[in-house]
Amino acid sequence: MTADAIESEDRLRQLSESYRSLLTGGVVGWEASRPFLKCLGVGGQGVVYLSERRGVDGFTIPVALKVFSPDRFTSPDEYSVEMARLAGVASRVARIQQDHLVDVQNVVSPTGIHVLEMEWIDGYDLRRLLTPDAFGRVRDQVTDRRWQSINQVVMTEGRDQPRLRPGTAASIIRECLSALAALHRHGIVHNDVKPSNVMLKRSGNVKIIDIGAAFELEHRPTVQPCTPIYAAPEILVGQPGTPASDLASVGYMLIEMLSGTHPFAAMSFAEMLETKRTIADWLAGVVPVDEFAVTEPLLKLLRKLVDPNPLRRFPSAEEAELAEGGVAEFQRELIKAGRSSEYEAEIRHWIEEMETEFDLTTDPSDEVTRDFQPPTQVLPLRSPDPESEQDPPVKR
Ligand SMILES: Nc1ncnc2c1ncn2[C@@H]1O[C@H](COP(=O)(O)OP(=O)(O)O)[C@@H](O)[C@H]1O
Ligand SMILES: [Mg+2]
Repeated sequence: MTADAIESEDRLRQLSESYRSLLTGGVVGWEASRPFLKCLGVGGQGVVYLSERRGVDGFTIPVALKVFSPDRFTSPDEYSVEMARLAGVASRVARIQQDHLVDVQNVVSPTGIHVLEMEWIDGYDLRRLLTPDAFGRVRDQVTDRRWQSINQVVMTEGRDQPRLRPGTAASIIRECLSALAALHRHGIVHNDVKPSNVMLKRSGNVKIIDIGAAFELEHRPTVQPCTPIYAAPEILVGQPGTPASDLASVGYMLIEMLSGTHPFAAMSFAEMLETKRTIADWLAGVVPVDEFAVTEPLLKLLRKLVDPNPLRRFPSAEEAELAEGGVAEFQRELIKAGRSSEYEAEIRHWIEEMETEFDLTTDPSDEVTRDFQPPTQVLPLRSPDPESEQDPPVKR
């Protein structure tokens, strides 16, 4: 036997020993570090980075890291209590295997600062997509014929921002609802449904992200963060968030997508609350006139998402998706109206055609998630509703 062959046999024996002692030890550990490769977003709660999990022999996989800032807290204890609560929510969300919900992978705190590790979603959030700039970039990339088809099927110009065609909007909302239904089934309220927290993947599918304001129904935060312009009216008067309040936020987002306007932007708190409470008076005006073929089913769907009385909304996200008057039925109406399309493929092509590096944007100031306390002087609730079994709003 040559010296080389003897050495090789020795090394193989050592490897076998390592293998066996690893198996008997029942645990494997390694050091981990995550480089910040690119900033993906900055918001009310911290910063999100693209990073990379690195293994051996050049293995890498992209991940996203959300680093939670202590700046909005008044003491280190307050930060730790809130972070511990969040880790509990994250751990529960991590167990939910739902295709349209961000895949949470870990929460660590190596320096006292909490970092949430999650799958990196290859796509764009809806806030970035629903801008005249993003729309214009597609125009530059496609033929006149394709541009016409995009305008008929996917999106077209709206008043403040591009508006989505009903089939595309419904396809996005449907996937949001299925993610929320999964969260709700596990006793979690998302509590911050808004365009910057909905991502469209390059595959054409939707993912709900940002569990920073989410809570378990049996373990509510003392101060409930939210984004007031997308929050249900009952939250604005100090009631706790519920699965029904998530549905109202989905409805406001749908109104925005369909109309190309921000229905509550630039309003005072009192005006916004009143506008949400009187939504029945103006809802019919938000569906563009050229959508007359599906106006009625669209309004039926919207009404049951955004009714100011949470008890008159769909009883659950699952029913908003699947029950009578829900999104699935609306999609069937589209087929009857001769308006069916392969929306997922359409969305995929649209994102491909836009293919661009956006400058890093932050949420517009009125869309930042913040700790919310209702103003001490809020409008009294409109005439008490006989069907409402809700407790009266908390007055402070
Ligand atoms: N997992 C992810 N993959 C890719 N981009 C992400 C991911 N999570 C967040 N982002 C981007 O970062 C932005 C901010 O993240 P988010 O969790 O919503 O934080 P904030 O609490 O600051 O709103 C998002 O709007 C999105 O554009
Ligand atoms: Mg967010």
